[in-house]
Amino acid sequence: MQEISTTSNEIDLPKNIILVGFMGCGKSTIGRQVSLELNYPLIDTDNLIVENMGMSVPEIFEQHGEDFFRGLETELLIQLAEADTEKSVISTGGGLPLRKENRELLEKLGYVVWLQAGVDCIMGRTQSATHRPLLQTPDPKLTIRNLLADRESIYSESADLVINTDDLAIADTTHGIIESARYYFSKY
Ligand code: S3P
Repeated sequence: MQEISTTSNEIDLPKNIILVGFMGCGKSTIGRQVSLELNYPLIDTDNLIVENMGMSVPEIFEQHGEDFFRGLETELLIQLAEADTEKSVISTGGGLPLRKENRELLEKLGYVVWLQAGVDCIMGRTQSATHRPLLQTPDPKLTIRNLLADRESIYSESADLVINTDDLAIADTTHGIIESARYYFSKY
């Protein structure tokens, strides 16, 4: 009898899995888990920018402004595309898909998964952290609501798959992403 192994370590995807979505939607946590399951490296765009600049995200925003940070995100994506990066999990900063140019680069780089969560869930996951300059406002909940409303169509435009993480266990989200990516790459 033929034995077929289905462990996800043996899944061989031709490009990358890319996670986009609002702050606090679990991109870093899920990215880490998907990278472990697939045994692919994890590329975290915020971490790389911080490493390259030798400054934290709040310091970059404060000293150079948001537009400059967006420029760094574009440069990084161009470098990843030019290096023909493949078989990696790319976890992106929440505002990275805002630039059209970035959305086009994401499309070239691989399978784009939009991780969603509701306002209350995002609020709960982000309220004690101070490393997100855009949420340091007098009314972070209103800020989240407004930014989400502005960005929803942008995330939607770049996504190949949408997953709402509110009520999903990390393992379920992870397996959903891996199986969907496998199916997607078998078709396209
Ligand atoms: C941002 C999200 C942050 C970080 C920066 C800006 C945004 O990343 O890139 O603070 O505009 O949504 P996370 O989504 O990982 O928090």
